Amino acid sequence: MANDARGSIVLTADMRAVIRSAHLCFAATVTPEGLPNLSPKGTIRIWDDHHVFFLDIASPGTRANLAVHPWMELNVVDQLSRRGYRFFGHSTLHASGEIFERAVRIVVGEEKARYPVESVVLLEVHRAAPLISPGYWHVADESAMRAQWRERRVALEREFEDHLKLQGVFRVDR
Ligand SMILES: Cc1cc2nc3c(=O)[nH]c(=O)nc-3n(C[C@H](O)[C@H](O)[C@H](O)COP(=O)(O)O)c2cc1C
Repeated sequence: MANDARGSIVLTADMRAVIRSAHLCFAATVTPEGLPNLSPKGTIRIWDDHHVFFLDIASPGTRANLAVHPWMELNVVDQLSRRGYRFFGHSTLHASGEIFERAVRIVVGEEKARYPVESVVLLEVHRAAPLISPGYWHVADESAMRAQWRERRVALEREFEDHLKLQGVFRVDR
């Protein structure tokens, strides 16, 4: 994997494609007391060859942790391919300015919805490693994996819909 002068890696075409497809990452940070903190971020996007970002809309824990320990790991997995990447690096928080404006513009342009954004979390990726499901021991290749999971998803979603019929659907009171 290519390294540039600053020690960050170059995001490959496959990494970019997985991030775009997954549209969700899990962000791991460390609390000031040294405890783990993990939470999902659906606004993960590619910034440039060396950086990814997400919007801090409702992430007070992650924000507070990064202010003390700026190191972060993001896990991104494509649901059908059952593979993805872990990205590790140094993050910076941007509550205003050019990086903030551009990042918000990218996400709002895609989502067609506005959110109150506290800050943009920009990760310089120093290290990346693939995440591969052990399920690959039992399937021929990624196409077979995707075909299998497409089918399994139908069954899993039917089961979850049945659960919602009993429980009632979730709604946010505004
Ligand atoms: C699917 C999904 C996507 C989410 N995407 C984001 C996001 O992009 N940015 C954000 O700030 N919160 C997002 N959230 C909400 C946070 O993960 C949630 O508020 C969490 O409790 C924040 O924890 P933290 O403060 O420890 O980061 C998302 C939640 C879910 C379930």
